[in-house]
Amino acid sequence: MSVMKDRDYGTPGVETGRTVTVEIDGRRHDVPEGVSVMRAAALAGTDIPKLCATDSLNAFGSCRLCLVEIEGRKGTPASCTTPVEAGMKIATQTERLERIRRGVMELYISDHPLDCLTCGANGDCELQDRAGEVGLREVRYGYEGEGHLDAEKDTSNPYFTFDPAKCIVCSRCVRACEEVQGTFALTIEDRGFDSKVSASAGEAFIDSECVSCGACVQACPTATLTENTILGHGQPNRSVITTCAYCGVGCSFRAELQGDEVVRMTPHKDGGANEGHSCVKGRFAWGYATHADRILSPMIRETTNAPWREVSWDEAISYAAERLKAIQTEHGTGAIGGITSSRCTNEEVYAVQKMVRAAFHNNNVDTCARVCHSPTGYGLKNTFGTSAGTQDFKSVAKADVILVVGANPTDAHPVFASRMKRRLRQGAKLIVIDPRRIDLVRSPHVEAAHHLPLRPGTNVAVINAIAHTIVTEGLVDEAFVAERCETPSFDRWKEFIALAENSPEALEDVTGVPAEDIRAAARLYATGGNGAIYYGLGVTEHSQGSSMVMGLANLAMATGNIGREGVGVNPLRGQNNVQGSCDMGSFPHELPGYRHISDAAVRGEFEAHWQASLDPEPGLRIPNMFAAALDGSFRGLFVQGEDIAQSDPNTLHVSAALQAMECVIVQDLFLNETAAFAHVFFPGTSFLEKDGTFTNAERRINRVRPIKPPLQGMHEWETVARLARAMGYEMGWPDGAAIMDEIAALTPTFAGVSFEKLDSGKSIQWPCNDATPDGTPVMHASGFVRGKGQFMLTRYVPTEEKTNRRYPLILTTGRILSQYNVGAQTRRTKNSMWHGEDVLEIHSHDADIRGISDGDLVSLGSRIGATTIRAVISDRMPQGVVYTTFHHPESGANVVTTELSDWATNCPEYKVTAVQVTLANMPSDWQMERRERRAEIEPAE
Ligand code: SF4
Ligand code: SF4
Ligand code: SF4
Ligand code: FES
Repeated sequence: MSVMKDRDYGTPGVETGRTVTVEIDGRRHDVPEGVSVMRAAALAGTDIPKLCATDSLNAFGSCRLCLVEIEGRKGTPASCTTPVEAGMKIATQTERLERIRRGVMELYISDHPLDCLTCGANGDCELQDRAGEVGLREVRYGYEGEGHLDAEKDTSNPYFTFDPAKCIVCSRCVRACEEVQGTFALTIEDRGFDSKVSASAGEAFIDSECVSCGACVQACPTATLTENTILGHGQPNRSVITTCAYCGVGCSFRAELQGDEVVRMTPHKDGGANEGHSCVKGRFAWGYATHADRILSPMIRETTNAPWREVSWDEAISYAAERLKAIQTEHGTGAIGGITSSRCTNEEVYAVQKMVRAAFHNNNVDTCARVCHSPTGYGLKNTFGTSAGTQDFKSVAKADVILVVGANPTDAHPVFASRMKRRLRQGAKLIVIDPRRIDLVRSPHVEAAHHLPLRPGTNVAVINAIAHTIVTEGLVDEAFVAERCETPSFDRWKEFIALAENSPEALEDVTGVPAEDIRAAARLYATGGNGAIYYGLGVTEHSQGSSMVMGLANLAMATGNIGREGVGVNPLRGQNNVQGSCDMGSFPHELPGYRHISDAAVRGEFEAHWQASLDPEPGLRIPNMFAAALDGSFRGLFVQGEDIAQSDPNTLHVSAALQAMECVIVQDLFLNETAAFAHVFFPGTSFLEKDGTFTNAERRINRVRPIKPPLQGMHEWETVARLARAMGYEMGWPDGAAIMDEIAALTPTFAGVSFEKLDSGKSIQWPCNDATPDGTPVMHASGFVRGKGQFMLTRYVPTEEKTNRRYPLILTTGRILSQYNVGAQTRRTKNSMWHGEDVLEIHSHDADIRGISDGDLVSLGSRIGATTIRAVISDRMPQGVVYTTFHHPESGANVVTTELSDWATNCPEYKVTAVQVTLANMPSDWQMERRERRAEIEPAE
């Protein structure tokens, strides 16, 4: 057993596609043109000693350890800052170089604590390694001189410690924060001997701009910045490459372990989505996987008032099956269904939808992706022909204009945000369409060219006004449209969008955005070079979510911004496997691969493979399940890894529907809010025990590898297969790999995917089949999946949710960096130190006229319900709009949100709720009831 380490080539690669021939230590080598001498030598197999260089950062040339001799050049140039040239003759090992390197190391060591044997980095310290490599045997200067050995530690960050006594001032941390993360939280203060690393001008890390991404810790060659887990437990002795279980970026990590315990998560350099970077959640917030709250034994109970009873797996599964069968006998086949989770693996999701279709004999399966990105599926399928984003993340490096709509990447998709900010610092232009002044609008070295702070609910009006400008000002890419798109659909759209009612001027009062700003943004997107669109739930979670997705697709087609690197239409998926859960056939009308259940040929294929007859009628969506539960016709539900009682809109309605059911089965890590209404609890597995795949927002299929067997004794897919067997249907899979083989056999876009292939190479972006065996980073390159691109009409229809004198403000909701979704995982980590409760952000004017001060408890009430929450006065909010997150069940943001939803997909309109905010001094009735209910379930809480 050993820890796999990423090779460090010292300086970044250069992609010219050309090579030059050089001589290194007497041997000729062909090396990439433009790389440093250091990298060329490393590629040729010779590692030149270095301290300030690492290949994730631009060369800096400060430590003077990497000196070489080059024939015909004076002195000893630094190999990290010297580019190779054809014919160069380089010596990396000479007596002179050895002498100089020893001297450099001597100076470093003379001001370094000699506590290697008890140091947290012992065995993983570049300074220690270099001292050994250069043959340092003595330090002539002694250790008595002035030094930094008594510098005070900064232990303010919950995840890492800064011990300046060990700092060699190589600036790797400062540069990592700037170049990799883009936060600029660190500086080198003072000069010469006094120079030292400092977080935001002398503040403690925790009080600084630091977002705890850990890039500096990873870059540090000494023990100065070290993970607390390493300080506490020591170095790992084995590692497993796996995938983060949080957001849709899908970062790859090396889980570094001592036995079966994680001691560090190191972002994997070969991870296609993250290329060695991460955010605070993936790198540090994995402690929930072994949290004491985790349920490890199956449980059952007759009624939701009864106490839970721990039982064996056999008893739990047969109890669940008997209850479900009894419901079907009494109320019909369609009286039960299932909900899949975008947090589970493709294999686990596939198993649930197959169970519903083949063992429950209906299509009552839906997914939590319904409440986030179902409009993406609908909108992109209708326009482009496939329900997925068009690019890989890397593509943003070729974008010239980046349009961010209804997304807050620095909080919700941080690693992609770092990539995006890197491109923006290089000069790409940014347009932000969002009611709030999100961080991207102005952050260190990044400033949006245009921020269009639209009124929530007017997305389609804004996108129509942008398209109107492009069409009426002659900015359409006519050649692209003529070659790649359906002419009749374009003609219809062009005529519609050119109507005066779609002009920025006509819509100014509706959107609240000055017409001239919209025109300027439209001109920039259409004429600024490669235009790339990135959008989030601020696009989809509206009554016109599908229209808005189609509006974005229309815009990309009209300007020819599709089908190559640097362009495209890209949904930023919220949860880790939103894309996968949709791909796997979780919608009631679609089998895996987005093929309609009513298509007899497709159905026949599945029936033959599954040896089951399938219902040709689409089943119930989640909101229909709730409605049917309340009218008594839907009585049994299997809920996989989703907390619908917290995450779905109109909590009181959801609770009533769940309460009305006879058998609710929850499969999860913790007794979540939904479990309060459950009769059967199947304990789930954390990502550290899963053996499967997640598909990220780029369609990238990443392996999720177990570091240990399931703590509760059974893989989640296995529980589902056993429940199906108890219902009379045999799935017969021996392992997760067999499930992927079945997915590949039945899903054309996955035809070339297998665990074996993923394990022998890297991740793969679907489609992956005979035509594209290595996957497809950029879609629609030579033609749209549907043939020709289809323009769709996107008439602006105002939402039914209106403000009035009683509810004069609009509530919109979202996420923050340190927490994730309903918080089930992140609330059980030290991340809660940054966001211990949800708060209501409110503009100072709106607060003033209500007598509200920063930190006051306020009542947040809508036509649906009311809750009590703490107010924070924020200059990010426009007047008339308030904002909150839904990470904590106590705040109950979804007690307030309505059931209005997207016209095409029923995706809830989370982003627009008319509310009133008033001072309050006690919890709402709902909160009191919840507290009582939880006290019964969890007396110890
Ligand atoms: S943890 Fe990240 S944000 Fe914080 S100082 Fe280090 S690199 Fe910068
Ligand atoms: S903290 Fe680490 S990375 Fe930063 S300057 Fe000191 S030794 Fe270098
Ligand atoms: S960006 Fe997303 S996938 Fe990457 S580490 Fe953070 S939470 Fe995980
Ligand atoms: S590694 Fe080249 S100067 Fe430090």
